[in-house]
Amino acid sequence: MASVRLQKVLAAAGIASRRAAEAIIAAGRVRVDGRIVTEQGVQVDARVNRIEVDGQRIVRQSPVYVVLHKPRGVMSTMRDPEGRPSVRELLADVSAARVYPVGRLDFNTSGVLLATNDGDFAEALLHPRRSAPKSYVVKVNGMMQERDVELWRRGVELEDGRTLPSKVKILRYEGDKTWLELTITEGRNQQVRRMGDTTGFRVMRLARLSFAGITAEGLPPGRWRYLSADELTTIKGQFGVPKRVVSPPRPKEPPKAAVAPTTRRPSRHAPSAKRARVTPRREAPSGDLQPRYGGGSPVRRDPDTRDDWGGGIRRGASETVRDDEPPRSSLGRGRSRTTGTGGGIGASGHEASYRVKGRR
Ligand code: URA
Repeated sequence: MASVRLQKVLAAAGIASRRAAEAIIAAGRVRVDGRIVTEQGVQVDARVNRIEVDGQRIVRQSPVYVVLHKPRGVMSTMRDPEGRPSVRELLADVSAARVYPVGRLDFNTSGVLLATNDGDFAEALLHPRRSAPKSYVVKVNGMMQERDVELWRRGVELEDGRTLPSKVKILRYEGDKTWLELTITEGRNQQVRRMGDTTGFRVMRLARLSFAGITAEGLPPGRWRYLSADELTTIKGQFGVPKRVVSPPRPKEPPKAAVAPTTRRPSRHAPSAKRARVTPRREAPSGDLQPRYGGGSPVRRDPDTRDDWGGGIRRGASETVRDDEPPRSSLGRGRSRTTGTGGGIGASGHEASYRVKGRR
């Protein structure tokens, strides 16, 4: 039986922080199987026990796993004290549950961001020793040579220690810039940008192509889809999670604005067609087997950006502004914005596998 402490359930259901949950319990507002519980540390299993707070039932949520194509200029946290756009809005229409990002991407990094309400799943994928691979396409300022690339491969000395060996491939040069494909197995804060800064090759554009083999191929920026049972099975084989492979929830009604998987022609720079993939390329949606796409409002695109990781912002050939500035923002130039406070599952120990019945 998967028992957990009562206050943890209350906190995970969003009733209160753990500390405040203790006060709620002590005040006699919580019933377990009809009996008021006032002592702390009682173990419960929401699948077996009936848990009520002020008469409202707390239930376990079914696990949900999605991949979002995070656009640049969006925080990968659920909250931003500065009020910048966050993935919360993009994930708001995940109908089955409230999900949280698995780790983070910088404000100006685009690409694959997994989200789930399964804390164990997130924790396993973020575990430093289990090494879920993360592949990026990176544009750096300067023309990298084989010896520079070799340094990145062997490990770059950062202030928090040397990076683990990585896979790096030069894709092409664009003037005095270099496009690379990089695969790392760590998830340190701003790792790629710091590797660039430390070695004199400032990162101008960064997009995550895959995380643990999951890609956002065919998903326009700002859109999400459920992970398929095949994808989850593959992840389970490699990382031992999720405990139970679930099929994506069925949509209640046919999605009105379903996004058909595009057969977008890859940009000159985007190496996406050759990405290692967990799942075969998706076919056009049909009947019940259709992939479930979602994603809130269309994301404002920089008109100068041909492709999220391919085009670069055309500001004039000689201008050396940071390429990854968000378009038309009031943010300062030349600085990469970090993700700020409050992370997703794993980043903050958030667990969200409970909810008040009738509420999301
Ligand atoms: N490395 C970075 O520097 N930023 C990201 O968003 C991801 C990896």
